[in-house]
Amino acid sequence: MSIVVKDTAELIGNTPLLHVNNINTGLCNLYLKLESFNLGGSVKDRPAKNMIEHAEKQKKLKPRGTIVEATAGNTGIALAIMALKKGYKMIVVVPDKMTIEKVYHLRALGAEVIITRSDVSKGHPDYYLDIARKIAKKKNAFYINQFDNEANLKSHYEMLGPEIFKQLNGKVDAFVAGVGTGGTITGVGKFLKRKVKNFELVLADPKGSILKELVDTGEISKDVGSWIVEGIGEDFSPPLLDSTLIDHAYTISDKEAVKTCNIILQKEGILAGSSSGTLIAAAIKYCKAQKVKKNVVTLVCDAGDKYLRKVYNNSWQIREGLYFKNNKNDLTDIISYPVIFGTMPKINKDSNCDLAFKLMNENSLDKLLVEDNNKNIIGVIDENSLFEAVMANSFKGKIKNFINTNVKKVKHSLSIKKLLVLFEKENFVFVYKNKKFFGMITKNDLLSYLKRNPND
Ligand SMILES: Cc1ncc(COP(=O)(O)O)c(C=O)c1O
Repeated sequence: MSIVVKDTAELIGNTPLLHVNNINTGLCNLYLKLESFNLGGSVKDRPAKNMIEHAEKQKKLKPRGTIVEATAGNTGIALAIMALKKGYKMIVVVPDKMTIEKVYHLRALGAEVIITRSDVSKGHPDYYLDIARKIAKKKNAFYINQFDNEANLKSHYEMLGPEIFKQLNGKVDAFVAGVGTGGTITGVGKFLKRKVKNFELVLADPKGSILKELVDTGEISKDVGSWIVEGIGEDFSPPLLDSTLIDHAYTISDKEAVKTCNIILQKEGILAGSSSGTLIAAAIKYCKAQKVKKNVVTLVCDAGDKYLRKVYNNSWQIREGLYFKNNKNDLTDIISYPVIFGTMPKINKDSNCDLAFKLMNENSLDKLLVEDNNKNIIGVIDENSLFEAVMANSFKGKIKNFINTNVKKVKHSLSIKKLLVLFEKENFVFVYKNKKFFGMITKNDLLSYLKRNPND
């Protein structure tokens, strides 16, 4: 890459390859191809550019035409940037489990975003791929269909694979990737298997996806689960995937993926997206299983900024059952904002309504802890009492006379059964451990707990 970039298209591809230094990878060298350095911030920039250029060449995409795609987000972002550069209108269909930051990013790029259900599969009228196809037909637009578009696979065969080969002077022994469309793993795999003797292709599959079983047995399981990492894992075998090329497959749980993302950040300073945790966890497992030294490459598929609220947030980890330090088997496991995190916003009893409103809004909370001048928690102010306070005295008025100090207090050792009985009357309780305030349990915390432990 030249020092002065004349066109943003030059920022697609040729991403750096980082040698992992501070993590035990057994006998192997592990390299991370930092796809987060691409213009659109992910591994989808090369395929997006290639699919659009291919459609132009084939005259399937006319000047000022409309592009439609169904995407978990990163392909949409990459396509929307290209559409912006080339004057196309972009419509993106996104399943609703995807990080909202990706939606904001797409809308800011001028794309029209249609959010659809993520709890339905192929064949259902609300399935995101079927919706995209219908919209494209109705609007006479070009449906990119990355799942069945050879230009997607070709971009990895012609660009990503050769980049890796060149960066390691041909000394690459294995590549680890996940499967969304299968373009990355099949394209890179085909190229490197052609170039390198005894090269191995490794699948990193989220727990719940059917692909590991497909690789291991050739069978497609009907037993599909759900997973949190975004962009990889499937409930079907995508047409671009050639699963027969894959030599090994590892199943990685969301918990392991989240933990690995946090380890990579702490050990290497790389803020990686959620799926990168799955890939790197599988790559480390593969590395440790080798009896001879190998050069192993995997991807940091996108950057972690979009997932700060999730993967790198201990409160979210607790609510999703992915916090790797919890297992006390008492009420402290349920509290998503324990005081020790220092992240639950608090307000002083002498503060005004304006600040209470700001803190609630900025943190998407409906209640705040209130403390006295000695930093003791004395109660809460919630939306209803804040409304009363504002109606009585305006936003400049104090919250003082509207604080709820009559809060039910329980010990951390109270059983869940007894807590559930309490919640028949209470909306939240304060939990104390060794006579010290530990945190608040809200109905939301309890719902998260019940989701994780359906038999309680
Ligand atoms: C976020 C993300 N998107 C996409 C991919 C690969 O996608 P595809 O199979 O569509 O090439 C990966 C992983 O390899 C990924 O982590």
